[in-house]
Amino acid sequence: MEKLVSLCKRRGFVFQSSELYGGLGSVWDYGPLGVELKRNIKDRWWRAMVQARDDIEGIDAGILMHPRVWEASGHVAGFTDPLVDCKTCKARFRADKLADAQCPQKPSKHPGEHSTCELTEPRMFNLMFKTFMGPVEESAAVVYLRPETAQGIYVNYLNVLQGSRQKVPFGIAQIGKAFRNEITPGNFIFRTREFEQMEMQFFVRPGTDEEWFEKWRQWRWDWHLAMGFRPEKLRWHQHGPGELAHYAKAAYDIEYEFPFGWNEFEGIHNRTDFDLKRHQEYSGKKLEYFAQERNERYVPYVVETSIGADRCALAALCDAYHEEQVEGETRVVLRFHPSVAPIKAAVLPLVKKDGLPEIAERIYHDLKTRFAAFYDDGGSVGRRYRRQDEAGTPFCITVDGQTKEDRTVTVRMRDTLVQERVDSGRLVAWLAEKVTV
Ligand code: GAP
Repeated sequence: MEKLVSLCKRRGFVFQSSELYGGLGSVWDYGPLGVELKRNIKDRWWRAMVQARDDIEGIDAGILMHPRVWEASGHVAGFTDPLVDCKTCKARFRADKLADAQCPQKPSKHPGEHSTCELTEPRMFNLMFKTFMGPVEESAAVVYLRPETAQGIYVNYLNVLQGSRQKVPFGIAQIGKAFRNEITPGNFIFRTREFEQMEMQFFVRPGTDEEWFEKWRQWRWDWHLAMGFRPEKLRWHQHGPGELAHYAKAAYDIEYEFPFGWNEFEGIHNRTDFDLKRHQEYSGKKLEYFAQERNERYVPYVVETSIGADRCALAALCDAYHEEQVEGETRVVLRFHPSVAPIKAAVLPLVKKDGLPEIAERIYHDLKTRFAAFYDDGGSVGRRYRRQDEAGTPFCITVDGQTKEDRTVTVRMRDTLVQERVDSGRLVAWLAEKVTV
């Protein structure tokens, strides 16, 4: 992890928020390469979940919502973690995660196990961030920063149904920021207080929910494989009765083996009709669906798929990171799937003379109209390759003396180091085939 975090900072993937002022706990900023990586991940998700399907619509709801939404959803009453303080070292821990934490005084022990530890009784701590709407800071003006994007989907379910030509079964998807005042955030961008979720709620006829749940489990698993994640780094975790969220009838996580162990990065839940029924009750408005062909009225059940864009970016970084020996040197390479790589191709003139930079610049400008490309003419070509390896650029295009004779360039493949000559006039099509899914 330390190597990855330091590479992320050095190469401009991820920076600590407000670093100039000593940083802000568990908030991170994406730099030039990081923002491209995360955008590409979100684009792939959106493409698979919305654009490639006829039965899912996209929305983009506000972060601030009516406070009653969070009463109806159960978050005001129940979105809590048990918190304990140590009176000796003043550190705070999640009471249910003591076994995963270290005592700050004696890191080989868990909190509460060292002779000087003095833990308080657990008290419940609500994870929602509060703020005030309007100029007066009073309880009537309290609003919350949403802790999940899903509720924006539930409260828009009828709007989407009426404004689109969908019929149950159908889904609504959205990507957006969520906020949680986590007690013990950490592990870089794994658990943060501000993050992005990619969530989809699929509305189905009650009784067909289990079948749809299984379909969604398979589709989401396939998406991870198509993203290029190594299958041996992925596994299912089924929630036992003690783990299930208050709204769920069944839940599975897709876990990734991060350097700090196996952890959830996507959750698939059968949320039943819990949320829609609660919104019906709290708003006083009917959220039923009328299925004309069956002459039947019901509140749909919901199968939810929910994945954090930041956690997915971390998994992509961990999966991509490799160190290997090449010609007696250590090569650090990020083997991203070409579709999510921040830069698709780097254009490098072999030397800075003989008209090669001019040809290389023309190629670079051509590519740039379609892809994130990079131009580099500084230093030896070997060093330029290494810089692109660290950025995860799948293809390096070198313009050399032969280019002037037959218009071909050398394309060097990041993973195999194989070099191939390609006609420069065909480069855009050649690259499109490799990086588009
Ligand atoms: N709507 C359901 C829901 O929010 P969740 O399991 O609490 O379920 C879903 O969150 C996903 O959101 C997680 O699998 C994870 O990828 C991401 N996530 C949750 N909390 C996070 C945090 N504090 N930092 C980064 N990502 C987080």
